[in-house]
Amino acid sequence: MLQSDTNRPKLLSVPDALTIARIVRVNHAGEFGAIRIYSAQILVSGWFWPDCVPALSEMLEDERRHCALFREAMPIRKSRPCRVMRFWSYGGWLLGFLTALVGRQGIWACTAAVEAAVHRHLDDQLYFLKGRDPELSGIVLSIREEEIAHLRYAEERLVSPNAVHRSLRFAISAATDSLIWLSTWGDSTRMARVLRASRR
Ligand SMILES: [Fe+2]
Ligand SMILES: [Fe+2]
Repeated sequence: MLQSDTNRPKLLSVPDALTIARIVRVNHAGEFGAIRIYSAQILVSGWFWPDCVPALSEMLEDERRHCALFREAMPIRKSRPCRVMRFWSYGGWLLGFLTALVGRQGIWACTAAVEAAVHRHLDDQLYFLKGRDPELSGIVLSIREEEIAHLRYAEERLVSPNAVHRSLRFAISAATDSLIWLSTWGDSTRMARVLRASRR
């Protein structure tokens, strides 16, 4: 497939172009979900945990910028937002709302679990994108820095992780992966398979 952007490889195979389109779609959905999670947490924190609001608001601004970057990256890669953004909208909001009701530890356990899942996905993607799509690789790299900062901030605030925190993180991780899978109709699984194969 011929690409017009000089910052991108001249030739991409059809399967590679498809995987790149999926990467952008999954990432855009994930950032949208993060916006919904943080929005609900900010709402609840405003009632019960106001000290958490400034950090959550900063993270929300980061997620909004990430979401816009992936949206802008879509047209040239023949990608579109996933068809069922409402999964992200309701699912993300509910996840944020419920974890914030648990308290500060619920908020930071949720942030740590979600950001760790995102970080894992981005790492796999960077390996695949290197040499195939330098422009998108650069975008993912810069976003990953901010996701790591979110993860560190949350982890620093988690008091000695006990069994309850570990279970909560595990449940949130599973919920995040399920949301990604549902909202992309399995695109995330197909994408992960290709990314794994590219590492061999
Ligand atoms: Fe993000
Ligand atoms: Fe984040």
